[in-house]
Amino acid sequence: MNIILLGPPGAGKGTQAKILCEERGMVQLSTGDMLREARTSGTEMGKKVAEVMDRGELVTDEIVIGLIEERLDGNTGSGIIFDGFPRTLAQADALDDLLARHGQALSAVIEMQVDDEALVRRITGRATCAKCGEVYNDETKPIPADGKCAKCGSTEFNRRGDDNEESLKQRLMEYYKKTSPLIGYYHAKGKLAPVDGLGEINEVKARIARVLEEA
Ligand code: AP5
Ligand code: ZN
Repeated sequence: MNIILLGPPGAGKGTQAKILCEERGMVQLSTGDMLREARTSGTEMGKKVAEVMDRGELVTDEIVIGLIEERLDGNTGSGIIFDGFPRTLAQADALDDLLARHGQALSAVIEMQVDDEALVRRITGRATCAKCGEVYNDETKPIPADGKCAKCGSTEFNRRGDDNEESLKQRLMEYYKKTSPLIGYYHAKGKLAPVDGLGEINEVKARIARVLEEA
């Protein structure tokens, strides 16, 4: 089963993708994570995209499609979760072609709906474990009081360079302008499943589970 998690920054795509990986053996393909890895490893591509990401703009279609293409040849577990990809109509077309070439299909596109006010609160409060990638939130899922990651015990946490109000404004603009047309695109294909992304992480998880049962 291959699915797309579609939604604005802070909708909870990464949080839910990690749960699906742990509980169902699916594989998460996050273009955001791949681009951040490229940045820290200092590759030419990483240097090229760093400023674009920090400004909250989209990286070129060519780069992200290339990243996804590389990963599709690897182990895809019991299915792929596309997290943060596709983000433009050109990327959606490219994904259709890539999946067809790999003899794969899309089961569902889960559109995670969260209002802007909640997105700002979530993004500005986010922290990520530097070792295992577990995602925390100052308000809703705080780092444990002993300062250690609940999953791996690490005491190092990162805050993203683009998790500030100014970049977030740009990221939201990019989402509404370039990514939200995908809602109509997948609706027309009969693949779109809107899910309320507000509420506890476990409630959202249960809503997604119901969609997957029917997919
Ligand atoms: P990317 O890394 O994809 O970021 P994003 O789409 O902005 O999404 P986020 O990771 O910020 O949010 P999320 O939905 O995963 O939320 P999370 O689960 O962490 O992209 C970053 C940049 O890379 C882009 O701006 C662009 O430059 C580039 N890029 C990436 N892909 C690209 C592409 N395809 N094309 C072009 N450029 C691309 O949750 C957020 C917070 O909320 C956390 O603190 C979490 O604990 C909390 N939270 C989660 N769920 C809940 C809940 N139910 N209730 C309360 N809090 C919650
Ligand atoms: Zn950890």
